[in-house]
This record gives sequence, structure tokens and C-alpha cells, in this order.
Amino acid sequence: MEKKIISKIALFCAIMVMMASKTSHATDLSPKAVSKWAKALNPANEKFTNLHFFLHHLHNVTAVTIARGATTDKSPTFFGLLDARDDPLTAGPAEASDHVGYAQGISAAASLQGISSYDPFTFVFTNEEYNGSTLSVLGSCALFAPSCEAAVVGGSGAFRLARGWVTTRSYYLNFTTGKASLEVNVVALHY
Ligand SMILES: *[C@@H]1O[C@H](CO)[C@@H](O)[C@H](O)[C@H]1NC(C)=O
Ligand SMILES: *[C@@H]1O[C@H](CO)[C@@H](O)[C@H](O)[C@H]1NC(C)=O
Ligand SMILES: *[C@@H]1O[C@H](CO)[C@@H](O)[C@H](O)[C@H]1NC(C)=O
Repeated sequence: MEKKIISKIALFCAIMVMMASKTSHATDLSPKAVSKWAKALNPANEKFTNLHFFLHHLHNVTAVTIARGATTDKSPTFFGLLDARDDPLTAGPAEASDHVGYAQGISAAASLQGISSYDPFTFVFTNEEYNGSTLSVLGSCALFAPSCEAAVVGGSGAFRLARGWVTTRSYYLNFTTGKASLEVNVVALHY
């Protein structure tokens, strides 16, 4: 009888410790916890992560124009057009496949020479593995280009101190409906 109670208490303690370690990693952002994390940082523990997913863009729905310059409408490269976007990310090419997060940011037509956009945005992950973690991306890309390369300049949560790069490939594109899907590959080093 006593043994049974002790093992039950031991099991309860083990579960509490597991829950505490899980939440402290995810949510303890106090200066003390952050300093402790930084002090324990060991370059030998740098991690490598390769992610592959699909981005779904629908003009006027997941991306909307928020500003335009006085001369934008006359510009052959839409120079000065600024969009806000929140494109959903899925594990597979189908929009109904497992949802993994969002690409949230802005996209500015920032070239007088050709149609190219300056895209600062954040991959905000919502899947079980990386829930709440983010990767910040910066680059000059044409959204509708067949392929594109941009830099990963940082991250949070599971991707603290991230650096890396993103490559995208056009998977589906329809100018009439404003619908586009991109295949995304991320290579990142982080702690
Ligand atoms: C992600 O975290 C949010 C907020 O903590 C929670 O509501 C949601 O259920 C989590 N999602 C997954 C897939 O674990
Ligand atoms: C684009 O979508 C329109 C409307 O659904 C359709 O009529 C057209 O065939 C599509 N074009 C391509 C290239 O898929
Ligand atoms: C988006 O909305 C604007 C303004 O209403 C419209 O001119 C444009 O044709 C729309 N684009 C698509 C792809 O629906």
C-alpha cells in the first residue's frame, strides 16, 4: 500500500518536473532566465534545422495594399506599392494539408529597374513542434518569380540567434485570381 502511494507521488513529481521544464523553456522571459540561458550558451551546441513547407498567397485576402506613392500607378514596376500580408503555411502543397504557421510582414515594390519587392517578414510557427517560435526573413524577392533566395536574420523561441537562408520556388500561380503558392525551404543554424 505504502509502496503504491510512494510510486504515485514519484510519478506525479516526474510529471510536474517535465511540465515545468517544458514551460520554462517556452515562456520564462524574465531577465534572470534570459541571462541564465545566455550564460549557458555553448557554440558547440549550435543546432541545424531544415524546414520544408508551402506558402499560400491570395491577393486582396491574405495580402492587401496598404499604401502607394503618388507616382506608383504610372510606374511600370509599381514602385512605391506597399502590401501587408499574412499568408498561411502548410506542410504539404494542398491548402487543406496540416497548417504549420503564417508568413506575416510587408512587401514593398522597391525597384525602379524591374518588378522586385523588398520583403521583411516573419515566419510565425503554430505547429506542435515549433509553436510560438519565429524566424525573421529579409530579402529582395519577386513574389511571382520562379525561384528566390533570401536571408534568415534571426529568430525566437526554438530558433534563438538564428541565421540562415530561405529558398522559394513557385508552385502555383494565377494572375487572374491573384492566387499563388510557393514551395519554401529553410536552412537555419540556431541555439
Ligand atoms: C500553440 O500555443 C497556443 C498558445 O499557447 C495554444 O493555444 C495552441 O493550442 C498551441 N498549438 C499546438 C498545435 O500545440
Ligand atoms: C486562373 O483562374 C481562372 C479563374 O478561376 C481560370 O479561368 C484560369 O483558367 C486560371 N488560369 C490558369 C493559368 O490556371
Ligand atoms: C484587388 O482589389 C483591387 C481593389 O478593389 C482590385 O482593383 C483588384 O483587381 C483586386 N485584385 C484581385 C486579384 O482580385
